[in-house]
Amino acid sequence: MTTGGRIQHAGLRRKIVPAEAAAAMIGPGTTVGMSGFTGAGYPKEVPLALARRIGEANAAGAGFRINVWTGASTAPELDGALAAADGIELRLPYQSDPVSREKINAGTMEYIDVHLSHVAQMVWEGFLGHLDVALVEVSGITADGELIPSSSVGNNKTWIDVADAVILEVNTWQSEALEGMHDIYYGTALPPDRRPIPLTRPGDRIGVPYLRCPPDKVVAVVETDAPDRNTGFKEPDDASVRIAGHIIEFLEHEVRRGRIPRDLLPLQSGVGNVANAVLAELENSPFENLTAYTEVIQDGMLSLLRSGRMTVASATAFSLSPEEAAHLNEVAREYHDRIVLRPQEMSNHPELIRRLGVLAMNGAIEADIYGNINSTHLMGSRIQNGIGGSGDFARNAYVSFFVTPSTAKGGAISSIVPMVSHVDHTEHDVHVVVTEQGLADLRGLAPRKRARVVIDNCAHPDYRPLLDDYVERAQQGAYGRHTPHLLDEALGWHDRFVRTGTMARPL
Ligand code: COA
Repeated sequence: MTTGGRIQHAGLRRKIVPAEAAAAMIGPGTTVGMSGFTGAGYPKEVPLALARRIGEANAAGAGFRINVWTGASTAPELDGALAAADGIELRLPYQSDPVSREKINAGTMEYIDVHLSHVAQMVWEGFLGHLDVALVEVSGITADGELIPSSSVGNNKTWIDVADAVILEVNTWQSEALEGMHDIYYGTALPPDRRPIPLTRPGDRIGVPYLRCPPDKVVAVVETDAPDRNTGFKEPDDASVRIAGHIIEFLEHEVRRGRIPRDLLPLQSGVGNVANAVLAELENSPFENLTAYTEVIQDGMLSLLRSGRMTVASATAFSLSPEEAAHLNEVAREYHDRIVLRPQEMSNHPELIRRLGVLAMNGAIEADIYGNINSTHLMGSRIQNGIGGSGDFARNAYVSFFVTPSTAKGGAISSIVPMVSHVDHTEHDVHVVVTEQGLADLRGLAPRKRARVVIDNCAHPDYRPLLDDYVERAQQGAYGRHTPHLLDEALGWHDRFVRTGTMARPL
């Protein structure tokens, strides 16, 4: 099919313009809802053209800035380019771009880190203000003007519904065979009009395969032919393989005890190399007929689908290495019955995660001895990425795992600390903590026992004596109550690292 062939609607074909012309429709102070979830399905050319325009204006002192809302992180052509041009006033929700991270931490870009399932309802409620423009990549437009989503769905339905104007990028790099893979549910409402969401299995289809958009609302259509851009995954290192091994052993144990079925429960796997390594190890596990109800389909999950070990996966986006993305483009049609891409308000919906009994595995920066988790901030202050969907899943999962290597920075940092320097997931939402050292099952344990099992099973041996010392003195001290702490030392490990370059100290 020719490029024009991807745009079957005659009226929308007449709105085709160059990227620069579409970018010219976005003025200073505009709030733009962009597509994109990880490096998938984000607009590829209009943000770059806009960044060039903003860069030129700002070089002349214009102070041209816009507000950017997305599904989650995107790629250098969007977040990176706009941030480098000093073009972003406010960004939400999750992001992982290094240039943006610097600006956010320098205090020159505002960042609101929101649970990914909350964004759409916050926009509908009007909490976040007015959305001027939706800028959304699609893989095609039907003759009736329905939009065929591309490799992510994210918040696109909401952006298109609430924005004043819509700019579409139609990307011919995306496989035409994506058509039919999506499930866009139009049954959500605000309280008090909410009804149960009729989804009981990960592969259920409860909506329509297209995004609806009145053609009159579309002010420009831009044709692109550009790849998604996700960075590849590292080969699983020794620590990741050991973490994966502990989780699989735990799952086998749970199956033997009859607490979860033999084909497990739907899996959710978070971002990062460790999460990908766990999926890779499941390939060698005894489990079959696996399912996923998750946020992103990364290489490890696609591989499980390919081998047949996983029967169906529901997500809001692909997050594939360039090699796997190219492969998917060739064979997308073969996955039609086994992959469902949904809006992120559905992929991350608390009601559905709780109903399905998801086994949620997410990365942590650090855990404390009582099981509180910091997923977002280095040394309590510097944002790394954001909470993403980890809170949506952890709070509502059947079993919620957090994984991290036991040390960072070559051993100078212990990832198991007396008190986390920032709390994203409280001890109440954390069931299992896993490091390469071992696994701490915190279910059913009161604080003092939690501390024992976290230190014994998860802490690096170099830091165990220090943690033991902390706990013993805390139990005897003035704050040795239900959850013993030494208030003047609880964050002292972080302070010591900042001052001396290591958390270690002689006892
Ligand atoms: N203290 C200080 N710094 C630490 C640290 C600690 N305890 N642990 C790790 N770091 C540093 C690393 O050294 C690295 O720094 P560098 O970039 O200078 O090398 C950085 O933090 C990232 O660590 P890394 O081990 O590479 O992280 P990762 O790729 O395994 O990702 C998270 C871990 C927590 C950052 C990631 O999982 C995340 O962003 N999670 C939140 C969102 C989420 O869970 N989304 C999924 C929901 S579906």
